[in-house]
Amino acid sequence: MKKGLFITFEGADGCGKTTQINLLKEYLENQGYEVVLTREPGAKGLGEKVREILLNYDGVVSDRCESFLFLADRAQNIDIIVNPAVAAGKIVLCDRHIDSTVAYQGFGRGLDRKRIKMLNDIATNGRKPDLTIVFDIDVETSMKRVGKEKDRMESAGIEFHNRVRNGYLEIAKEEPERIKVVNAAASIDVVFENVKTIFHKTLQK
Ligand code: TYD
Repeated sequence: MKKGLFITFEGADGCGKTTQINLLKEYLENQGYEVVLTREPGAKGLGEKVREILLNYDGVVSDRCESFLFLADRAQNIDIIVNPAVAAGKIVLCDRHIDSTVAYQGFGRGLDRKRIKMLNDIATNGRKPDLTIVFDIDVETSMKRVGKEKDRMESAGIEFHNRVRNGYLEIAKEEPERIKVVNAAASIDVVFENVKTIFHKTLQK
């Protein structure tokens, strides 16, 4: 049986990771792999309801409450979608995961990162991605890509998003084996070539 893989895609809002996930999915399926696509927040089913609250609720949301909502969605995603698919030998591509909470709630909102990592560990039951690709881009370019219609998170301001970006780079330095950084300011084709190279290296391990 084929070995399953769990790959996560991370980066600032507007970094282009969703385009790259779709390209990789198509590429892998053409090679005969079974691919499952998922995302956080908003894993299929209950996660979609949680996503709606997280992105569109216009009342006050405390930083800790926000974190727990992301974590609840994560637990559901891991238990219901990721683990069964990987166990069945599929490749799971996940749009955002544990590192988003460290980058956004930790570096961005300023919550204690050690505790966030502990909570991530509970939400995932200790499972870590086999590979994480961080799409790095300067905040000015990414915010231009997002455009004027911003959701609750995207409206958090330029300083917040700078902290998130630098946070991702720091996280990547802490776990260089798992986390690879790609320059997302390059063209879609160039970025995708890098993604493929990184994927094949992981497969060889
Ligand atoms: P989404 O529309 O999925 O953004 P993108 O298309 O850029 O991935 O919105 C998810 C938002 O939630 C995004 O701003 C990042 C944020 N987020 C957190 O703050 N913490 C988390 O743990 C996760 C998973 C996402």
